[in-house]
Amino acid sequence: MKIGESLGLIRERFSSAGIEEAPLEAELLMRHVLKLDAVAFLNNLGRELPSEQERLIDSLAACRLSGKPLAYITGKREFYGLEFVINPSVLIPRPETEHLVEKTLEIASRMRSPAIADIGTGSGAIAISLALNLPQAWIYATDISPEALELARLNARQHKVESRITFLLGDLTAPLPEPVDMLIANLPYVKSLDCATSPEPHLALDGGVEGLDVIERLCGSLHGKLKAGGWVLLEIGQGQEERVKRLLSAALPFAQIGTIKDLAGIERVVWGRIDDIII
Ligand SMILES: C[S@@+](CC[C@H](N)C(=O)[O-])C[C@H]1O[C@@H](n2cnc3c(N)ncnc32)[C@H](O)[C@@H]1O
Repeated sequence: MKIGESLGLIRERFSSAGIEEAPLEAELLMRHVLKLDAVAFLNNLGRELPSEQERLIDSLAACRLSGKPLAYITGKREFYGLEFVINPSVLIPRPETEHLVEKTLEIASRMRSPAIADIGTGSGAIAISLALNLPQAWIYATDISPEALELARLNARQHKVESRITFLLGDLTAPLPEPVDMLIANLPYVKSLDCATSPEPHLALDGGVEGLDVIERLCGSLHGKLKAGGWVLLEIGQGQEERVKRLLSAALPFAQIGTIKDLAGIERVVWGRIDDIII
């Protein structure tokens, strides 16, 4: 069988199973096995597929069809144009989180040498994207999961920014050694019932009955963690903006509060900026 024919078959199997991005996932799975980049893959569609690789593609496709996310099969995922090593101890970084990175870059690039905290860093996708795009920044990356922090450290080493990020194990803002200019977080915000059967770690998804337990605790832990003029940016789920704005206003009474929509028009980030008053 030719590589192109095998691609067609995998695509069809993925589409029939209802996999949302079937064509892309089929291509990524095949490129992973064949060790080809996008251009080389296209150039090789007419080549014969060796039977050993055909068998491997088949078994990985079956694994995907059984419900395992592609990133856990290939062990990698692209985020903000960068490749990250991924394993089942971390959330698979989502494209919508790139809004959080964009907005942080926009604000931080106007600061001279900002200290930025990424709370609940997971694979390190946010912290590392910021470190690579803000050479003047100092980054703290925290997580309550030792396995996630280990993977984030590995990703930082691979992207050569390990020396610019301090990795801290602990609950929310507790491990931060000093107030920061910007505090960024994509914490769990899914309702417990909605993530009960997810293959991703519950520690990364489960925000309690209403989805906001962890964000509420984060807001309650902001006291003394921000410098004057400091910013907080929180990723949220659909329909959570009013409740999170209230939580943030209660935690930062003198702050300006706003929201940012994602490409689908969903309010995705709630931000707060304190003025000159140190909380
Ligand atoms: C939704 S995932 C986000 C991971 C990563 N920031 C990203 O955007 O891909 C949430 C992360 O928060 C961590 N987390 C959950 N509860 C925490 C807590 N109380 N303190 C610190 N981190 C926590 C989880 O281990 C997980 O890595």
